[in-house]
Amino acid sequence: MRYSRTATQPDQPMYLASTAVFMAELIKIAACLYMLRIEENSFRRCFHMLYLEIFHKPQEIAKMLVPSGLYALQNNLLYIALGNLEAATFQVTYQLKILSTAAFSIWLLGRSLNKEKWLALILLMIGVTLVQTESVSSSSSSSSGTTCTANTESNIQRPLVGLLAVLTSCVSSGFAGCYFEKILKTSTTSMWIRNIQLGLCGASFSFIGMIASDFSSIRSQGMFQGYNALTWFVVINQALGGLLVSLVVKYADNILKGFATSISIILSGIISFYLLDFQPSILFIAGTGIVISATVLYGVNNKPL
Ligand code: C5P
Repeated sequence: MRYSRTATQPDQPMYLASTAVFMAELIKIAACLYMLRIEENSFRRCFHMLYLEIFHKPQEIAKMLVPSGLYALQNNLLYIALGNLEAATFQVTYQLKILSTAAFSIWLLGRSLNKEKWLALILLMIGVTLVQTESVSSSSSSSSGTTCTANTESNIQRPLVGLLAVLTSCVSSGFAGCYFEKILKTSTTSMWIRNIQLGLCGASFSFIGMIASDFSSIRSQGMFQGYNALTWFVVINQALGGLLVSLVVKYADNILKGFATSISIILSGIISFYLLDFQPSILFIAGTGIVISATVLYGVNNKPL
């Protein structure tokens, strides 16, 4: 995502982030409709269900306004953060969402975390920060010719703006994630329907955001100005990644999602070692050790009370 925002092509305008956020919502809705069709195994039942759950339950849609508004805000803020912060600073500060998620799990979901679990979460934050700092510094040094040059020449970075954007995203991520988890776990409505409800609200919010911020540019150069294959990849990845998030939240929880994400970063490091000539440094190895210890510490303490 950061690469797509910083590596500009001289003959192409930069794509509008607001349109990317909006398109991701539309693709998410389409993917959910497809999954609902598979689940129900009949178009008729699928339409009937949509009719009942979407048009006849405005109060259920209203419940989704909170997380979808926050996700729309957060998804736009992330583009601002990525454009105004160094990648390493971004990665480090964004790990604070691990702690904000824990705090909102206590507040909204009534979970309790003992001292060992807090220690595990803090270790996770430190470990994943070390791992990511390493992967970021190696990737930026290997691609500095394109990324950094384009960055300094075409963008003026405002670190304070970036920092505020990332901190707001952390709070939003924790709150929206736990709120959505509560909705998924306290009702029997299909997860795909919930995601369609969320997507409809999200698409409306992001449509308003897109018009408010980029109307004149869209009118003069079109909605898909600056789009290329990489942009579509980022958009589709955002949409499908969002659906994966809701699967994890339904069958596990938001805190475990933090662990899963951290372990996935390590797995990509290991795969890159074998496939892509990635040489892990001592920081990466130390970070990996800390993440694994944190996961074991949290898991050992995860027995039902
Ligand atoms: O960083 P965080 O885990 O909060 O990111 C969640 C992402 O997943 C956001 O981009 C949000 O739009 C997306 N999401 C989604 N559908 C859900 C839950 C989250 O698209 N049901």
